[in-house]
Amino acid sequence: MRLSIYFLSLFFLQSTATALWCYDGQYSCEEACRDPGQWAAQFPSCEGLRQSPINIVTSKAHRNSALPPFNFIGHNQDINISLKNTGHSAHFSLPHSVRLSGGALPGKYRAENFHFHWGREGIPGAEHTIDGERLPMEMHIVHVKEPYGSLAEAEHDIAGIALLSFLFEESADDHPHLDTVIEALGRVKNNGSSTQVINFKLSNIVPSASDLHSYYRYMGSMTTPGCEQAVAWTVFKRTLPISSRQLSAIVSKCLFWSGQPMMDIYRPVQPLDGRVVYKSNSGSLLPSLPLLYTLHILLHI
Ligand SMILES: *[C@@H]1O[C@H](CO)[C@@H](O)[C@H](O)[C@H]1NC(C)=O
Ligand SMILES: *[C@@H]1O[C@H](CO)[C@@H](O)[C@H](O)[C@H]1NC(C)=O
Ligand SMILES: [Zn+2]
Repeated sequence: MRLSIYFLSLFFLQSTATALWCYDGQYSCEEACRDPGQWAAQFPSCEGLRQSPINIVTSKAHRNSALPPFNFIGHNQDINISLKNTGHSAHFSLPHSVRLSGGALPGKYRAENFHFHWGREGIPGAEHTIDGERLPMEMHIVHVKEPYGSLAEAEHDIAGIALLSFLFEESADDHPHLDTVIEALGRVKNNGSSTQVINFKLSNIVPSASDLHSYYRYMGSMTTPGCEQAVAWTVFKRTLPISSRQLSAIVSKCLFWSGQPMMDIYRPVQPLDGRVVYKSNSGSLLPSLPLLYTLHILLHI
């Protein structure tokens, strides 16, 4: 008797410890997964004080003249990239030749992957909201600070990871280059499947750095478990276009690890907890402040 209780509790402990994390829309009574409100039970950082995404209140963002434009490296190269369904999302891996500097970041960063957060047919699914408004889709380009070799190594540095965020706004016309991405997603329907995208060019989707002077900056976290608080976030003001046809195509291509349609893949917004959101002073003629001062104000939380 005692032994069977022991095994029963062992089984229970094990099944709760291994319950997979999921998004709100995925949770159901049959699907014993951890929704975002439960992530912290397994990943303690998820209830930290510097979590992402957030709602950006534009009138409260502090204007900062020490936020210069970025320097993108490798965005114009033709690259072969692999796309993998990770069970929670689909990641496009980027080669180390794609890099980033400038933007008042404390060093140089190399790209790791890009991916999208979306909702479902007719329902928006960006992660960051602007003045309470959620746009249909958000693209993240994940970068790791040099010389760290991996995301895991960079997670111990408050700005070890630089995430660039592009919000998509619904447009009458198709985005001219997004269909390549959508078709590729159609080839990685199931968890674990992967495909190659040949001769891809990041600049087909991401505008050139000279057109991206205006952005918001704050210190936050990864938006998926373990919610590591190691991210210098940049959310560009300029939105990218996507047609309603492309939106309904992109949200219907993949399945979660549980076999359910991969929809509503965004984490709810997190409290600001006293953090300051900065906005770049685009077009300003003021000289930019020395980097050290910039770092001081950016990392002062
Ligand atoms: C990408 O793959 C194609 C076809 O396999 C190949 O011809 C091309 O050289 C590759 N490009 C790069 C940059 O590796
Ligand atoms: C999802 O796929 C990965 C391999 O890419 C595998 O390790 C994992 O167990 C799969 N998850 C589920 C729930 O099947
Ligand atoms: Zn993301």
